[in-house]
Amino acid sequence: MILEAKHIYKSYQNGVKNLPVLVDLNLDVPRGDIVTIMGPSGSGKSTLLNIIGTLDSADAGEIFINGKSIAVMSDDELARVRNAHLGFVFQFHHLLSEFTAWENVLLPTRLWRTKESKKERAEELFEYVGLIDRKDHFPSQLSGGERLRVAVLRALINNPDLVLADEPTGNLDVENARRLMDLFVQIRDDFNQAFVITTHNPDVAAIGNRRLILVNGGLKNAEDV
Ligand SMILES: Nc1ncnc2c1ncn2[C@@H]1O[C@H](COP(=O)(O)OP(=O)(O)O)[C@@H](O)[C@H]1O
Ligand SMILES: [Mg+2]
Repeated sequence: MILEAKHIYKSYQNGVKNLPVLVDLNLDVPRGDIVTIMGPSGSGKSTLLNIIGTLDSADAGEIFINGKSIAVMSDDELARVRNAHLGFVFQFHHLLSEFTAWENVLLPTRLWRTKESKKERAEELFEYVGLIDRKDHFPSQLSGGERLRVAVLRALINNPDLVLADEPTGNLDVENARRLMDLFVQIRDDFNQAFVITTHNPDVAAIGNRRLILVNGGLKNAEDV
């Protein structure tokens, strides 16, 4: 199991009101799974991804990454685990505008200084998504779909076990959304990486081999709702 989230609780304090967002939520993600999570706006999808991505902490519950509880990790260790095992793709791609596509993809490797092997992998990845001739473009010189594909490469450069994608197709037209989903499935088939993808779009959700819905703070099988 790459990820286990057990009995996760999270609420936000809005003034005097306590807003429960995640309530005794459980999720297991084995290698090679594509898990899609639907849910209305405000249901807690981003909150959930941030918590399983260790970017935010739960009020209660446990997260295990590759069988190891993150509760016992130091900040340094957690940063290392995040960098080595998790990749992130967000709706707003968060590419750094002053860096080229190539540099953006190699950013997560800086931690250990970029090795030749990483540059070779980056080269392969750019080929893989058909963007090798765009690698020296700045984000402003790329289309929305191309920027997202670059963001996907950045998420993949350290060969993570699990890619977390928060409404990645939110800003894409149907054609580009389809292309991004095909890419996710192809990556899973080729590298056996796992994905957790949140989405509003039923067509995107359909690519999951496990399709879940976030309702009342918990996850249910989409087929049962
Ligand atoms: N930092 C925060 N402080 C207070 N409330 C928040 C915060 N972040 C999210 N929320 C609230 O938590 C709920 C879930 O938000 P979110 O996880 O962003 O939902 P989704 O991604 O499904 O749209 C929403 O009602 C939102 O207003
Ligand atoms: Mg969200």
